[in-house]
Amino acid sequence: MDGKKLAQEIRTQLKDEVAQNGLVPRLAVILVGDDPASQVYVRNKQRAAEKIGIKTVDHHLPATVGQEALLDLIYQYNEDPNIHGILVQLPLPDSIDEAKITHAISPQKDVDGFHPINLGHLFMNKPYSLPCTPRGIMELLAHYKINPSGKDVVIVGRSNIVGRPMAALMLNADATVTVTHSRTRNLAQKTRQADILIVATGQAQMLDASYIKEGAVVVDVGVNRLEDGSLVGDVDFESMLGKAAYLTPVPGGVGPMTIAMLMKQTVEFAQRG
Ligand code: GUN
Repeated sequence: MDGKKLAQEIRTQLKDEVAQNGLVPRLAVILVGDDPASQVYVRNKQRAAEKIGIKTVDHHLPATVGQEALLDLIYQYNEDPNIHGILVQLPLPDSIDEAKITHAISPQKDVDGFHPINLGHLFMNKPYSLPCTPRGIMELLAHYKINPSGKDVVIVGRSNIVGRPMAALMLNADATVTVTHSRTRNLAQKTRQADILIVATGQAQMLDASYIKEGAVVVDVGVNRLEDGSLVGDVDFESMLGKAAYLTPVPGGVGPMTIAMLMKQTVEFAQRG
């Protein structure tokens, strides 16, 4: 499944939509500290936004920034009618309480869908904003005409950003959902039941073909850098090729869809006004 191509199509549609409706969506982007991966992600988001016509208001704060100063910045944007979305790149330095920051962002401006209110709406199948990676996965599956309704979906990983919201989205889509994690016993026995397997463990190439049944749909959320500098996912792509019916590559699978969904949600927020 080619996430890069679909993400490009979505970004082109968004660009047209922004131009045709005379929208000027504005997104506050806050990066704290010098985590190299976060810097790359934020730069990619800023570039994608610029091409679509979304204005970003960028803050790169030192890791030493106080929690109160960060909260004040968020409160300022919560009140600013010209700002439609607020994004604080995670992870934050250990000195800052991530939950406190996530909760401070107005749910109406929560483009990442991480606020407990928005997670609650999602859980009750009345979503307002959605975490971008799970939403991107749903769009990717829909594009390839893979309907989760009635399917056995197995999710490996239970993070707040991917595994948990993914489970809620799949349940809303009428799938039968199993969430597995680091304490799960007999993991392969469970993943082999999956019609659709979604892997977000953060462990490079953790699952090979022995973990899936013939014809499974495999979505790989992982981005891991090996010592030789190459990027690999959480599944062994080569091993699964030929056994899986559909498979997402890394890079070029889920990653570009995450950014496209962030853009989409920002435009949606601007349209809501
Ligand atoms: N860190 C990893 N993924 C994400 C994401 O989707 N949004 C933000 N803000 N931080 C992240």
